[in-house]
Amino acid sequence: MLQIKNLTVKALDKIILEDFSLELNDGEIHALMGQNGAGKSTIAKVLMRDKNYKVVKGSILLNHEDLLKMDTTEVARLGVFLVGQNPVEIEGVSNAEMLRTTLNDQKKNDLNILEFNKELTHLCEKLEIPSSFIHRDINYNMSGGEKKKNELLHMWMLKPHFLILDEIDSGLDVDALKLVGNSIKEYIEEYHPMVLIITHQKTLLDIVKPDKVHVLNHKKIVQSGDYLLAEKIFKEGFSGASIIDRGSLDA
Ligand SMILES: Nc1ncnc2c1ncn2[C@@H]1O[C@H](COP(=O)(O)OP(=O)(O)OP(=O)(O)O)[C@@H](O)[C@H]1O
Ligand SMILES: [Mg+2]
Repeated sequence: MLQIKNLTVKALDKIILEDFSLELNDGEIHALMGQNGAGKSTIAKVLMRDKNYKVVKGSILLNHEDLLKMDTTEVARLGVFLVGQNPVEIEGVSNAEMLRTTLNDQKKNDLNILEFNKELTHLCEKLEIPSSFIHRDINYNMSGGEKKKNELLHMWMLKPHFLILDEIDSGLDVDALKLVGNSIKEYIEEYHPMVLIITHQKTLLDIVKPDKVHVLNHKKIVQSGDYLLAEKIFKEGFSGASIIDRGSLDA
């Protein structure tokens, strides 16, 4: 489980989150919504221990362990996996190399290479990406939508316990959006991870029904509810639904 308590986060001397609290139990799916610039990606990056974000107050416990004492590698080893809003391109490291190394690290050297190749080929078919992607550099020169699918390839191979999806649905065509949504749903049904979905769109939440929905504004969660809260926002907007005052974002 994840327990974020009264978190204050700074970047470049600007306070981005203040008194931010959020709790996820094992196997729960939560959606985080909020206007542009509210701080949604910031919390995702803080969870991955991005050094650009300084936690000046508060605590984060992951399965009762102090996440703020860990670095990115340690967090990843605990099975935390972020699909970022803009997945990073890593020139010179192929998908296969990264996955083989990481799986070897996870399994302590008993990886069967034939099984590994078979699994990757099968996943490429399922995700409707060419099998040549296996040997392409991570996200390098891939289109926006291809990057999102490539990240899902990593997810299926690495089998994380805590999935953070930061606008995985942005930039996808209608067919790709359905495919990506269904792939995530299938993964959740098979492995029951804890999931934090950051999104502005309805389609993904319609496929992967969240247990709880939160709205971020004024640097903290201002409202929480079930899926009905998301439906209300999609219908009426944040200000229309009286969740956020018009022009309420701090400078
Ligand atoms: N490294 C940083 N340095 C300075 N300011 C930052 C940094 N990262 C984020 N910010 C600022 O913090 C605020 C929150 O950014 P963030 O990316 O978390 O928003 P968001 O809720 O994800 O928005 P969007 O819906 O547009 O993706 C913005 O005003 C942004 O400019
Ligand atoms: Mg963002």
